[in-house]
Amino acid sequence: MICRLPEIGDKDILHAYVQEHYDGNEKGISASLGLAASEYADWVETIQRNALVGDTSWGKSLLYLCFDNGKLIGLLSIRYDLPEALTKKYGHIGYGVKPSERNKGYATTMLRYALSVCRDKGMDKVILGCYKDNVASAKTIQKNGGVLIEENDNYNEGIISQYYMIKL
Ligand SMILES: CC(C)(COP(=O)(O)OP(=O)(O)OC[C@H]1O[C@@H](n2cnc3c(N)ncnc32)[C@H](O)[C@@H]1OP(=O)(O)O)[C@@H](O)C(=O)NCCC(=O)NCCS
Repeated sequence: MICRLPEIGDKDILHAYVQEHYDGNEKGISASLGLAASEYADWVETIQRNALVGDTSWGKSLLYLCFDNGKLIGLLSIRYDLPEALTKKYGHIGYGVKPSERNKGYATTMLRYALSVCRDKGMDKVILGCYKDNVASAKTIQKNGGVLIEENDNYNEGIISQYYMIKL
């Protein structure tokens, strides 16, 4: 699997990626940082700026396109510079896999890769959140060593989120 920042030339494959979610009646595109709602060139500029200089709220972050055999499989967001106070609100890592490529082990591989990036950045642990009913995401985290540390509905009243810690 190859993970890299988006480029201007990725417009068509990302358009198809978004469309596949819509075709599957999924409204949100996980880890995309508003891809569907932005002008493509502006979005690429934002992602590249976040990687180089960072965002005022969550610091430097990486949004990677993940490819297998040249095919775009999913998006991976790594917020390795997140201020402590925001770790549970955003989580250090987010991911999404396109509907036709799910249940093939890709998210597990992508998270493992994200953890290696966080380790290289000098982190000794990461916090990840997912909704309690998102069994696939919870399993992905657990398979990468995640330990449940908390459950609450602080950020979405009535919707329970789980928070996991992974020591690096
Ligand atoms: C969550 C998501 C990223 C998982 O991606 P994936 O590539 O299918 O995950 P994997 O193939 O690596 O599977 C990880 C584990 O989840 C299980 N799993 C996958 N889909 C599942 C489902 N629909 N229901 C229950 N378990 C599921 C797998 O069996 C595997 O566990 P196992 O090895 O014990 O069998 C994907 O479903 C997705 O993109 N969902 C929408 C976005 C999202 O929820 N992102 C996470 C936000 S916290």
